[in-house]
Amino acid sequence: PESGSLSIIVLGASGDLAKKKTFPALFNLYRQGFLPPNEVHIFGYARTKISDDELRSRIRGYLVHDKGASSQHLDDVSKFLQLIKYVSGSYDSEDGFRLLDKEISKHEYSKNTVEGSSRRLFYLALPPSVYPSVCKMVRTYCVNKSDLGGWTRIVVEKPFGKDLESAEQLSSQIGELFEEPQIYRIDHYLGKELVQNLLVLRFANRFFLPLWNRDNIHNVQIVFREDFGTEGRGGYFDEYGIIRDIIQNHLLQVLCLVAMEKPVSLKPEYIRDEKVKVLQSVLPINDDEVVLGQYEGYRDDPTVPDQSNTPTFATVVLRIHNERWEGVPFILKAGKALNSRKAEIRVQFKDVPGDIFKCKKQGRNEFVIRLQPSEAMYMKLTVKKPGLEMSTVQSELDLSYGQRYQGVTIPEAYERLILDTIRGDQQHFVRRDELKAAWEIFTPLLHRIDNGETKPLAYQPGSRGPAEADELLEKAGYVQTHGY
Ligand code: BG6
Repeated sequence: PESGSLSIIVLGASGDLAKKKTFPALFNLYRQGFLPPNEVHIFGYARTKISDDELRSRIRGYLVHDKGASSQHLDDVSKFLQLIKYVSGSYDSEDGFRLLDKEISKHEYSKNTVEGSSRRLFYLALPPSVYPSVCKMVRTYCVNKSDLGGWTRIVVEKPFGKDLESAEQLSSQIGELFEEPQIYRIDHYLGKELVQNLLVLRFANRFFLPLWNRDNIHNVQIVFREDFGTEGRGGYFDEYGIIRDIIQNHLLQVLCLVAMEKPVSLKPEYIRDEKVKVLQSVLPINDDEVVLGQYEGYRDDPTVPDQSNTPTFATVVLRIHNERWEGVPFILKAGKALNSRKAEIRVQFKDVPGDIFKCKKQGRNEFVIRLQPSEAMYMKLTVKKPGLEMSTVQSELDLSYGQRYQGVTIPEAYERLILDTIRGDQQHFVRRDELKAAWEIFTPLLHRIDNGETKPLAYQPGSRGPAEADELLEKAGYVQTHGY
């Protein structure tokens, strides 16, 4: 039954992810009534020995941002914090997990509205190195044992491994302990409003159906830029690099939704089946279609090795070998310490044949989906320049969410994904075979980088990245739009 007690257990409760993302998302869900206090209890588990109140006061700072918070807000925060209990223990300690189970059971007993049923959601806000041991402990000591209903689910975050082999190993270890329907692999890009909109856009609009293919689309760009570097997390970042941090997961997931065929229905498994097919159709990456960069000053971070070869920027062209996409470059680009913070999808159409207006130079039709900041979709198109002359100009049809949906709060990605987990909807989570196919695409390139066979080019922080990346874009056929 989808009622009865619900326990949300945040493992790694005193870490950064938990404080910055998990607890604020839980708080937002609580405020909107999705975590009814007569059913829900939240447990924090971590090694640090602190009291319930100490954990609560640490979290509080992330829920109350300004001094002018309303008394209603402060009241909500206090009530929410009262739902949180802390248990301390290490990540391989039998005693710790036994104690955790005891606390959860106590709460279930006190709150059971449907006798005996229990829902247990374990959120691993932890480094992946401890996933296997934590999963084992949870499996052994903490799963829902009630035969009267309920469930146990676990949520894990990337990085899921470092390459195909390590990812498969991790998947097998977890797979021996939990069934696939119990495992929720978060890619928070799948929780973003405009990423979730992609399916609707593509399959509910007649406009796009006949155009969305190699006959009409020249190239697709999926771009992620950040205007800050890896300060404060250089140690973590250096082990992974921009491809593992952003491209192999976030951008590739977006690519799947842009390129996939229409699923049989909205059933999560049908959607994930189509995503896997796209990934399996991606051809091996061509060395000539990769540009790597590292911003100057990256190695000044004391946690980054002096000789680090880790890219903080990459542009990679992927080619999908199927009937819809053959010949269309999918350009994935991501970088830290660039000139702006933005994530967008740019679908560039082919030139109009027989151009009687001689307007080709002004640019092509382009459809842009801006994921952030300021969610928007706009279509660049050619119109007659208003006035007496018959000349043309590039203009746009613009759907900016801030204007069109004034007053609508767009939920945070994590908020949505945690709610999906509670509801048992795996549509926006990465399935094991998807993960494997994603690693298959990037592992050879990653190994070449790890072995020092391919080196990143230096670029200035605050720039567009290495100039070679723009050249690659041009070579792939992307045409910059001018003059609108
Ligand atoms: C994370 C990466 O997954 O995504 C970070 O590890 C990155 O390096 C972040 O900054 C970006 O997320 P968003 O939602 O701010 O685009």
